[in-house]
Amino acid sequence: MTRDTQRPLTGLGHDGLARGAGRGLGVALLAAFLLAGCVGGPRGLSPEAAGPASEATPAIGDAEQGKRLFATRGCVGCHTVAGEFAGGSMGPELRRSMRQPTIAGQPNTPENVWRFLENPAKVKPGTAMPRLPLSAQELNDLVAYLETLRQ
Ligand code: HEC
Repeated sequence: MTRDTQRPLTGLGHDGLARGAGRGLGVALLAAFLLAGCVGGPRGLSPEAAGPASEATPAIGDAEQGKRLFATRGCVGCHTVAGEFAGGSMGPELRRSMRQPTIAGQPNTPENVWRFLENPAKVKPGTAMPRLPLSAQELNDLVAYLETLRQ
């Protein structure tokens, strides 16, 4: 699978993003992840701290890998995706979110979703969405997956 990490997302319509269907993994994995203390961040990431991707530029990721990350990196503990993940209800159902004109208070573009996931409280002060320790490539892949929910 080729990954083009050099192409910036800016100015790209979401049709240009990678498409793909992935396999959902069990909620058990997620529970293990959450129990391991990842919410809140094992590295204690705060909105002020520099995260692993804080200096990175959003790029096009792999939607199938993003779906796998969604299941294994804590997202599903708080979010349901209609028809794909019967997850938690602390956060909004994300198929609906991805179809709104704004998301997390910003215009709903791939780049804005990326920046929100990288550091939720920086984009939306006071948000209950935690900052998870995700690399730039992981953010690229998660956004590529979320883009598939727009249809
Ligand atoms: C501890 C629970 C929790 C976890 C874990 C979590 N979220 Fe969230 N998320 C939330 C909450 C709560 C909101 C609503 C935040 C707000 O509007 O201020 C949210 C908002 C969002 C939004 C914006 C939705 C909208 O309608 O504005 C997206 C996109 C999102 N989350 C994706 C993810 C992804 C991807 C992951 C995994 C990397 C993840 N979330 C992990 C709780 C969580």
